[in-house]
Amino acid sequence: MASVDIVKATKSFGQNEILHGVSIDIADGEFVVLVGPSGCGKTTLLRMIAGLETITTGEIKIGERVVNDLPPKDRDIAMVFQNYALYPHMSVADNMAFSLKLRGVSRSEIDERVAKAAGILGLKDYLARFPRHLSGGQRQRVAMGRAIVRDPQVFLFDEPLSNLDAKLRVAMRTEIKDLHQRLGTTTIYVTHDQIEAMTMADRIVVMRDGNVEQVGAPLELYDSPANLFVAGFIGSPAMNLFKGTIEANGRQGFVTSGGAFVSLKTSAIAGLAGRPLVFGIRPEHLHITDDGGRGFEATAKIVEPTGSETQVMANASGTDIIALFRERHTVKQGDKLRLAPTQYHLFDAQSGERVASSDM
Ligand SMILES: Nc1ncnc2c1ncn2[C@@H]1O[C@H](COP(=O)(O)OP(=O)(O)OP(=O)(O)O)[C@@H](O)[C@H]1O
Ligand SMILES: [Mg+2]
Repeated sequence: MASVDIVKATKSFGQNEILHGVSIDIADGEFVVLVGPSGCGKTTLLRMIAGLETITTGEIKIGERVVNDLPPKDRDIAMVFQNYALYPHMSVADNMAFSLKLRGVSRSEIDERVAKAAGILGLKDYLARFPRHLSGGQRQRVAMGRAIVRDPQVFLFDEPLSNLDAKLRVAMRTEIKDLHQRLGTTTIYVTHDQIEAMTMADRIVVMRDGNVEQVGAPLELYDSPANLFVAGFIGSPAMNLFKGTIEANGRQGFVTSGGAFVSLKTSAIAGLAGRPLVFGIRPEHLHITDDGGRGFEATAKIVEPTGSETQVMANASGTDIIALFRERHTVKQGDKLRLAPTQYHLFDAQSGERVASSDM
């Protein structure tokens, strides 16, 4: 096991710089999840850590060693890809043993490591089978087995579950988390799945266009997004966002560009009057009020009860919003609702930085 320090790493392909100075400190044993839109550089960063891509400038350290010029085989890292491509003509045991054989590890040690990994992954009864005789989830476990037998200092996962169906993903997610708790190996994990990121990570790194936008524990990012991008990216359904300004003469509150008004406590909005802002409310932080002095009016467009909660898509003075209620309301399409926020954030419309929150 080892820490991984990425220090101002950049990556250019030809003239094209696609990572612009990424710095992330990953502690020994930590489970870090990278998220961000397609093309932001997640896979490239993993490949640079693994040694499959060069580092243009900056430094990557694994433990105390700077690995910039170290070939992949000397980095003591195992990577599991989305397309894990098992060798179809080899049994499960041989698939897992393959990289150890290449390294010249002794037969007895190989057998021991494969048996141990198979035990951890529940593959003991499948060692003689060929990949085509396995389910998707079992194949995925073999791919992980290939990584585990190497007993690396760091695991890198690039969307390892995205080819599996929803139910299997949930099962594998739990298995990977359990595995991490047992082995304690430093792990860097890329996913597009919000729930995977939130439930598996010790810390999440949110990337955009080759930059790190914010690093933090899942709930830290959820509760205190540094900027509009993170606010909109973390959380599903996404945070509702309204453009507008603070009014502080007479009425105290936020006026949306569509003309809706939400009264707010003076302390939260001091000094923000007149500036172009974005008002953000998570769907579950909206509740229905009959107090005409609070909240804003919205018209229900689609009502989706799931039993445990009800999701209402509505329009508020021209802005489409989503509200999520745990309690049961008898809302119908076309109903006029008065919605008030229990929590909110304010962002600068130009820089996107968060400038105030309801709990400040
Ligand atoms: N070998 C390469 N040559 C030139 N450009 C590349 C190369 N590999 C990646 N890129 C570019 O670098 C950028 C980042 O790609 P990368 O694969 O790291 O994104 P990603 O965040 O993993 O996206 P996704 O979520 O779609 O997997 C993209 O614009 C991509 O086109
Ligand atoms: Mg990728």
